[in-house]
Amino acid sequence: MAEKAKVAILISGRGSNMAALLYASKLPDAVYEVVLVAANDPQAEGLALAAAEGVPTFALSHKGMSRADHDAAMEQAARDAGADTIVLAGYMRILTDEFVKRWEGRMLNIHPSLLPKYPGLDTHQRAIDAGDSHGGVSVHLVTPELDAGEVLGQMRVAIREGETADSLATRVRFAEHQLYPRVLSDYLGREN
Ligand code: GRF
Repeated sequence: MAEKAKVAILISGRGSNMAALLYASKLPDAVYEVVLVAANDPQAEGLALAAAEGVPTFALSHKGMSRADHDAAMEQAARDAGADTIVLAGYMRILTDEFVKRWEGRMLNIHPSLLPKYPGLDTHQRAIDAGDSHGGVSVHLVTPELDAGEVLGQMRVAIREGETADSLATRVRFAEHQLYPRVLSDYLGREN
């Protein structure tokens, strides 16, 4: 079997997508392993889960640091862990162009809308306000322009009568947890 891809996952909070990616990597036919979970917030809940599962973690607050210096530290942590792929999973930081360009084609993100609709924040409320029949989720390659890289996979999530941004977000997350490991695996498999 080909060597597994080595994935570093960057998070900022809950880390439920990270957990989905991590447990998917434990399936018998997994094409990747998680070599690092890193956060820009030492309190990020997901760090404790990763640590409990024996995955190396790294945390560095961005507070008081320049964007370039913070990015450099996160990138170094990923390299030190031997990562060949960086997966953003609720990482609430805009990255420097230089960091993104160095990982072009090897950095993925998940965004809670059907891109190109609703890049940026408040995606669920915007979809509800627009009267859309569906919200959803996209996995895309990261490029310097926010939420604009090639879309690798999407899943639609129906918007119900009386839907709130919170209720939609909860359901979109179920879709995210299915989509992200599958799209990442397909993408890494396609490269090998
Ligand atoms: C997800 O909704 C993801 O689409 C967005 O941030 C959220 C992260 O949630 N980019 P979690 O930390 O993975 O639970």
